Amino acid sequence: MPDKKISPEDLAKAFEEFNKNSVELIDYFASLEKKVFDLTMELNKSKRLAAIGEMSTVLAHEIRNPLAGMRLSAEMLKKDLKGDKEHNFLISNILVAIHRLESIVTEILAFAQELNLNLGEVGLEELLRDAAMAVEYKRAQKHVDIYADLSVKYIRADAFHLHRVFVNLLENALDAVPENNGRIIIESQSVCGGGVQVKVADNGPGISDDIRQKILEPFFTTKERGVGLGLPICFRIVSAHGGKMDVRNHEEGGAEIVIWLP
Ligand SMILES: Nc1ncnc2c1ncn2[C@@H]1O[C@H](COP(=O)(O)OP(=O)(O)OP(=O)(O)O)[C@@H](O)[C@H]1O
Ligand SMILES: [Mg+2]
Repeated sequence: MPDKKISPEDLAKAFEEFNKNSVELIDYFASLEKKVFDLTMELNKSKRLAAIGEMSTVLAHEIRNPLAGMRLSAEMLKKDLKGDKEHNFLISNILVAIHRLESIVTEILAFAQELNLNLGEVGLEELLRDAAMAVEYKRAQKHVDIYADLSVKYIRADAFHLHRVFVNLLENALDAVPENNGRIIIESQSVCGGGVQVKVADNGPGISDDIRQKILEPFFTTKERGVGLGLPICFRIVSAHGGKMDVRNHEEGGAEIVIWLP
């Protein structure tokens, strides 16, 4: 068999091809390495969050009973101290603190509990009125106006869980708006492809991109007395309905939380 001589040009071409392939291969490995790194980080984060969730539930359960005992004792003491203003003031402070702790515990347990939806026809007007009642104290303190413009009045949902969603959204909006000229607008409308959209908009400072990225992480809060479970709970409830939730800023400023329900 005659020897086939490889010309220097062929050799150079082959070498060039080899070089090109190696560079591609190196790029490919680098991207794989990055993917593995990202996935590992993601896994660590979910593991950490799962562990935090589990630990919090146990803690919440353990804290609930002694708290109930404390509240009962404080209420009994308050009854006994009818006329004593100074002591009454101190006991009221204790009761407010206990109430705050109880709502934190309730929030943690609500986040951890399984969601079993009980779907039915829900009147949005009544649902929003009840949610507004739940935050009336905070609303009145800051003199905030809440408006509702409901094109859609009835939706199919779980009234109990949806109430929680709107209480959380209203609480956040009330925390964000300025005192004395705060404004919250709730709108509902039907969506072309089916389903309903409900928006809760406020005239607060809005939400920066930085914060928006972390907003659905359990226990992320920028508030001194926040727990950081309000929006994650809303997200969970809306997702359980097969819906979607978007946190964005309104063109005219302020935050706008949009919920789509099928
Ligand atoms: N309407 C809003 N305007 C501006 N920032 C908001 C608004 N809603 C939520 N945020 C930001 O998102 C963060 C997370 O909200 P989330 O409701 O999950 O927790 P939280 O309100 O801090 O505590 P809590 O568990 O008591 O609700 C808030 O701390 C706040 O920084
Ligand atoms: Mg909140």
